[in-house]
Amino acid sequence: MKIIMLGAPGAGKGTQAKMIADRYGVPHVSTGDIFRANIKDGTELGKEVKRYMDQGLLVPDELTVKILMDRVGREDCRNGYVLDGFPRTIPQAEVLDKALAEMGDAIDYAINVDVPDETIIGRMTGRRACVSCGATFHIVHIPPKQEGICDACGKELKLRDDDKLETVKKRLSVYHEQTQPLIEFYTEKGILKTIDGTAEMQDVFTSITDILGN
Ligand code: AP5
Ligand code: MG
Repeated sequence: MKIIMLGAPGAGKGTQAKMIADRYGVPHVSTGDIFRANIKDGTELGKEVKRYMDQGLLVPDELTVKILMDRVGREDCRNGYVLDGFPRTIPQAEVLDKALAEMGDAIDYAINVDVPDETIIGRMTGRRACVSCGATFHIVHIPPKQEGICDACGKELKLRDDDKLETVKKRLSVYHEQTQPLIEFYTEKGILKTIDGTAEMQDVFTSITDILGN
């Protein structure tokens, strides 16, 4: 099963992708998580992508495509994956499409998690992410058991640099300009499924399992 999660920044792609990965036993592949892990480890890639991410801009296609194709080429992705945050531009979608077509394969579903911009702003400025394991919480919707401390690993929770209000606004405008056209791209392919991402997390997941089946 090969799935793409589409949606604005903060729509809940990561939250739902993790639940899908657990339920269906496929790896959760997030380009954003890969980039953040590299920033944390201070790698050359991390230094390069940080410049873009902190401004709310997309990392150039060439670099992103290489990272993603390397990742999905690994053994654990052989039976499928859930892609979260990729593709984010038409050229990225075309590269993925072509690579899969060459293997006689294709994406099964593109799930569009639909959430209006006003809701997104509240979610992201309230989100707190673990500096160590990357687990995410929300100060109102998913508070950690102890304020500022990760439930999963006990390390510190922080506001992501790119979750500051001005950067969130920039990310939303980049989304509308560069990523939203993918909705039409996958509609034309007949695999787009739009779900209401404003519902409770578990209800959003139920709409997804209704599509994917048990
Ligand atoms: P990335 O990490 O992909 O960030 P994003 O798309 O901006 O998405 P987020 O991770 O912020 O949101 P999400 O949709 O995963 O929502 P989440 O589940 O966390 O990318 C970061 C950056 O990397 C990009 O800006 C770009 O620079 C670069 N990049 C990455 N991929 C790239 C690519 N392909 N090409 C170029 N550049 C790329 O939820 C958000 C919050 O809401 C959380 O607090 C959560 O707890 C809460 N929440 C979730 N669901 C619900 C719900 N149903 N009700 C209430 N609260 C909810
Ligand atoms: Mg995410």
